[in-house]
Amino acid sequence: MNDLKERYLSIQKIIRTHDYEYYILDDSKISDQEYDELFRELRQIESENPDWITPESPSQRVGIKPESDFATFKHFQQMLSLANAFNEEDLRNFHDRIVKNLGKAKQIKYFCEPKMDGAAVSLIYEKGILTKGITRGDGTLGEDITSNIRTIRSIPLTLRESVNPFPDLVEVRGEVFISKPNFNALNLKAKQNGDKVFANPRNAAAGSLRQLDPAITSSRPLAFFAHGIGICKGVEFIDLQEIFSVFASWGLPVNNLNKLATSIEDCLKYFKKIESTRDSIPFEIDGVVFKVNELTSQNQLGEIARSPRWAIAHKFPAEEVYTEIEKIDFQVGRTGILTPVAKLKTVNVGGVNVSNCTLHNLDELTRLDPRVGDGALIKRAGDVIPKMVKVIPKKQNRGKGVAAPSKCPSCQSPIDFNYQSEWTIIDTKTSNPVKKFSSSYEAQKYLETNQSANLNILEERIESPFIKCSGGNNCPEIFQGKFTHFVSRKAMDIDGLGQEILLTLINKQFIKDFADIYSLKRHRVELEKLERFGEKSVDNLIKSIDKSASVELYRLVFSLGIEEVGETTARNLANIFGSMEAIQESSFEDLIAVPDIGPRVAAKITDYFSNTENIASLKALIPCLSIINPKLNISREDMKFSGLQIAITGKISPMSRDEIKNLLILDGAKVTSSISKKTDYLIAGENAGSKLEKAKSLGVRIIEKGDIDTFINDPKKFF
Ligand code: IVH
Repeated sequence: MNDLKERYLSIQKIIRTHDYEYYILDDSKISDQEYDELFRELRQIESENPDWITPESPSQRVGIKPESDFATFKHFQQMLSLANAFNEEDLRNFHDRIVKNLGKAKQIKYFCEPKMDGAAVSLIYEKGILTKGITRGDGTLGEDITSNIRTIRSIPLTLRESVNPFPDLVEVRGEVFISKPNFNALNLKAKQNGDKVFANPRNAAAGSLRQLDPAITSSRPLAFFAHGIGICKGVEFIDLQEIFSVFASWGLPVNNLNKLATSIEDCLKYFKKIESTRDSIPFEIDGVVFKVNELTSQNQLGEIARSPRWAIAHKFPAEEVYTEIEKIDFQVGRTGILTPVAKLKTVNVGGVNVSNCTLHNLDELTRLDPRVGDGALIKRAGDVIPKMVKVIPKKQNRGKGVAAPSKCPSCQSPIDFNYQSEWTIIDTKTSNPVKKFSSSYEAQKYLETNQSANLNILEERIESPFIKCSGGNNCPEIFQGKFTHFVSRKAMDIDGLGQEILLTLINKQFIKDFADIYSLKRHRVELEKLERFGEKSVDNLIKSIDKSASVELYRLVFSLGIEEVGETTARNLANIFGSMEAIQESSFEDLIAVPDIGPRVAAKITDYFSNTENIASLKALIPCLSIINPKLNISREDMKFSGLQIAITGKISPMSRDEIKNLLILDGAKVTSSISKKTDYLIAGENAGSKLEKAKSLGVRIIEKGDIDTFINDPKKFF
């Protein structure tokens, strides 16, 4: 080897050592100028000898821009996700299950780590050289983001030689994240440049990793901590503690807050300690992770519904954040209900910017009594919509209390103060109430089955906390809302009819009724002249309208926007009656025999179909469609899932959750969205979260991903 080549390789090595000292040990031994000088020399040699350059050279962090999208990469081993514990009891239950599984005699140690709020990635090192970086993706398929991963300075392009030999292949898993100060600086810069600011460090990290141009990723202050291992060929490990110390010896960044706990009490102490120091930790965390330390025990415990049984994320309680109320409005929904909504000074709650918060109804308004200018505590847990927990009045000059409007804010029609009737069976002798019903039908039935001269029905009108615009189709909000719902994804699913386009078409009177949507193609020429409409976009719109015309019956029923008829009820109606005509002709009695339909919903349905406007609108619409009617089963008792209550959670493929739901309902199941003691089975797909936890704690039987097909074909196998 000539002297220059030797010098070249030695500079590479020196730079690598300095990188390790700077990024991993946080203990730099040279000045920035000296480092830059070395780098300049490296680049100089490379420019004169381009054929010497290998991808591991420190100069090669920012590679070339890939042509198009990222390639998908199938993970060698699935990247699992973590089950959650939200309190001490959950954590103790987790521990008890493990003790039960491994036997009392075994002393269980837990490896404790902060739960980083970043993006999970998998790094492949072959014989010590970084060859691939992949996003977690859906756990099975990720995206090849190798060139972006290489730009992250704390990720070594080659592992350091140490007493621990490199395996032929090792998959290092961990979290890419942005520290709090770097995140703030990044957002400040974005604001100054007029760019979009990131809601939280997680979005910023994930977004930066998915940039097509590695130069952009390189400009983002990304960091990395290893938190696990995937496939490993050529080296055996005993426990996590060993893995992390070997990782550190190879120069991989490992969080120094990690700790080994020898009991569950120790784990709880760790949780409390990290929680109390959370603010001073320089990166965002949302809890801590506990993992059974020993690998043989991990293997024995295995996994359930895509989460390992040997690990759990103990989450910090949902954050409550203080902000101010700027305005309180009433918003009209498509059914005409007026919902009070507080406009807030924008505030970040658990990583999401919140500037509006629903106050639900008049009862909630009375409970909170918010005034413009008041302070308010806002809470948001997981993906739950923000809730106003408490109003904190400003002592002086408090604004006026919010009263229900007397006119619709949109169309000025009078407000209907809804009254709900309640029917009480009373004992006429004593005047004591015997039982209360929310429909006269049920009360009547009670009387019939409990015939007694002393019983009578008393109807009482109680004020409903929900108020309503009386304008009907004359109210623009109701009218537009009706169409927005009609075209939405779970309804007719018409792409390209977004809010603004819809509004234009309504204002230009192209759309006055549902059926008009299907005759839009006759107005092609006029449409193309409208602002925002080109030939291409009109083409696409017509294509998606045509596509939507072939529609399953339940979707059509749901699209009509009948009050109280959500997706599940629409499915039930479709599956029981089998055709639009049969639904239209069904009687109140027929309707209340349908699962989930009570007298109140039944009354809304008969109301809908006795309205002449609705009938005319349907009559015009139906010939435009090709309705796919469900196959009807003859007897409900013979159905596969008859009598079973089933819940579905998590991501399911290749069938969607909706498709599975439809199949189950068709075969007699009651499909619910929440879990209760009555739930018989939970079908748990990927990333199943709190529902899975709840199901486990209630002892609900769980159908894991691999079993879903079998369960749907032959549920008896699981009875
Ligand atoms: S271990 C089988 N450790 O949380 C467990 N994950 O739901 C695999 N995360 O996708 C992950 N900090 O992105 C583990 N110290 C930590 C973590 C951590 C954050 C993320 C990770 C994963 C998700 C699990």
